[in-house]
Amino acid sequence: MPFPEEYFDAVVSVDSYHYFGTDDLYLPYLAPFLRTGGQLGTVLPGLTHEIDGRVPDHLRHWQQDFHSFHSADWWARHLANSGAVTVTRADVVPDGWRHWQRWEALGVRTAPPEWRAHCAAQAEDLAADAGRTYCFPRLVAYRTGG
Ligand SMILES: C[S@@+](CC[C@H](N)C(=O)[O-])C[C@H]1O[C@@H](n2cnc3c(N)ncnc32)[C@H](O)[C@@H]1O
Repeated sequence: MPFPEEYFDAVVSVDSYHYFGTDDLYLPYLAPFLRTGGQLGTVLPGLTHEIDGRVPDHLRHWQQDFHSFHSADWWARHLANSGAVTVTRADVVPDGWRHWQRWEALGVRTAPPEWRAHCAAQAEDLAADAGRTYCFPRLVAYRTGG
């Protein structure tokens, strides 16, 4: 990024950190752009608990990005492992799966036609899951160094 170190007071990522932030080397790369004490905040699709191996049968329409979904505890450890931040919050959005389902239901009616089947499939899995697996972890951390 074309910014000097310590440039940002805060970095916020909504619904996208899992696309790149699972890389063990990503936060060590990103953190220097935050001033010491500056905050990182993210909310992202994830899991109530870690799943090793087979995706549960009722999540029939899972796609490859499922494997980038993790629990709030997993993310807290992952961020802390960078050595660059201290995590101050790691929990889940209350009823996050219901918000997710509303979003997919909206997509079924209003998304570009080529996305609608995907929205319907995801809404079906969210209904079958009813919050057992899918959720929205949210994390806040501040830069300590590293
Ligand atoms: C679900 S959208 C969320 C967009 C926006 N943050 C919001 O809440 O409306 C996911 C975003 O992540 C971006 N994205 C996906 N993979 C990425 C990557 N490897 N690096 C940077 N951005 C990525 C996509 O371009 C998309 O804009």
